[in-house]
Amino acid sequence: MSDAIWKAVDAYVTELLVGEDLAQARTLSDSEAAGLPSIAVSAPHGKLLYLLARLRGAKQILEIGTLGGYSAIWMARALPAGGRLISLEREPRHAEVARANIARAGLEHAVEVRVGAALDLLPALAAEQRDAFDLVFIDADKASIPEYFDWALNLSRSGSLIVVDNVVRRGAVIDAESADPNIIGVRRFNERVASEPRVEATTIQTVGSKGYDGFTLALVV
Ligand code: SAH
Ligand code: DHB
Ligand code: MG
Repeated sequence: MSDAIWKAVDAYVTELLVGEDLAQARTLSDSEAAGLPSIAVSAPHGKLLYLLARLRGAKQILEIGTLGGYSAIWMARALPAGGRLISLEREPRHAEVARANIARAGLEHAVEVRVGAALDLLPALAAEQRDAFDLVFIDADKASIPEYFDWALNLSRSGSLIVVDNVVRRGAVIDAESADPNIIGVRRFNERVASEPRVEATTIQTVGSKGYDGFTLALVV
């Protein structure tokens, strides 16, 4: 079993079930053309985020790590009229590409991309007295996942769902001796979740066009 078959099955599932539209496909091709790294979620994973938002009836969504807007577009497609998605992105160039992609997808009324380091932007967001977020997708730098999780929890309510991407990293997560700041961040996050009575969580390993990785789902209880 190797990456080749994982990719082929992702392509098959995407073609048959996922229903990626032209604006989403163009989001990926334009992101690549603009030199952004190819680290957006896969199409089936994007559809999962969309389905989770639908299941949750999410009206307010927060994303940390926009890149070219691919996952943001998936989640925003699940919003009801008047719903909003705020996405935080450190790189101005990524935000610019994302805004163009979001506009082409017809979602500029619903999606706001804020530029800056997430840990600088989150305090201001928390001070805005807005409605709690129903869904938070954490997908920026991995070293700060524990801090993003704390903010997500603060900005949520009972029933909110927090999704954290890239928590398995080809199994590297189980290496307690790892010196990789990404792995250290993920492990610190796992310990944080394990001792947090406000959430019930699990982690699912995934294979696909993005290799072997996984995500955590944490329900705020
Ligand atoms: N969610 C996107 C992929 C995000 S890739 C998708 O699936 O389509 C990670 C993004 O996080 C990159 O664009 C990177 O620039 C951004 N990022 C990294 N560190 C950050 C930080 N400290 N604050 C905000 N964004 C950050
Ligand atoms: C990386 C970041 C991601 O969000 C991802 O899905 C895959 C890889 C990275 O920084 O390498
Ligand atoms: Mg990711």
